[in-house]
Amino acid sequence: MRIPFIAGNWKMFKTTADALQTVADLLRLTEGVEGVEVVVAPSFTLLRSVSDALVDSPIAVAGQDCFWEEQGAFTGEVSPGMLSDAGCSHVIIGHSERRQYFGETDETVNKKLKSAVAAGLTAILCIGETLGERESGDTFKVLERQVGNSLAGVSMPQAEKIVLAYEPVWAIGTGRTATDDQAQEAHAFIRGLVAGIFSPTVAEAVRIVYGGSVKPGNIAGLMSRPDIDGALVGGASLEAESFAAVIRHLK
Ligand code: PGA
Repeated sequence: MRIPFIAGNWKMFKTTADALQTVADLLRLTEGVEGVEVVVAPSFTLLRSVSDALVDSPIAVAGQDCFWEEQGAFTGEVSPGMLSDAGCSHVIIGHSERRQYFGETDETVNKKLKSAVAAGLTAILCIGETLGERESGDTFKVLERQVGNSLAGVSMPQAEKIVLAYEPVWAIGTGRTATDDQAQEAHAFIRGLVAGIFSPTVAEAVRIVYGGSVKPGNIAGLMSRPDIDGALVGGASLEAESFAAVIRHLK
């Protein structure tokens, strides 16, 4: 069975002291919680100190992005190997804010994804439609394009380990969560796409998590649906109390 997966995306928040306080509180508040995989994704400058604080703990660390080259003259970029070196086991790829503000496309997302998985990182691949796309009835078309293009050239063993994050752009940071039905419908569709691209076995194994205004009050409903395997949490992951509450409800 699929182990529930939850990641906290801290985005461009926190400096060292605040981050270390949050992880200390999170460790205390989630002590003894089992059967769920927990990841935090701090900004690049915090990775080393946060991963040191979480060493030998059940909580893993993710980068929020990476470049596809391993090294070179690419000012400002960080490679998958550098993320591993800083203590990361995971990396978020293709977050909608990267697509929206930093010009990421399915093509760059695919290059980053292949490079990250080849380097041994677990990729958290974000996909999801905008409000306009949903309203014009294009949700499934958009998801099909994003999933197909992003996963091109990925091998079956690599695909099984990828975590897909369905994040409808209109639900991110807006307080407007997709309904349990809307999320389940999209997740089932995405799982079908994975079955078609790879195999039904890969589709059964792959975790598909929901993201977009997840909080302690709505996680249980989402998790009760068969194809929702966890969450990618933004705002509610910044405070240890609310993130721990989401984690505790997740099971
Ligand atoms: P949110 O962000 O929980 O603040 O809506 C989710 C995300 O961007 O991953």
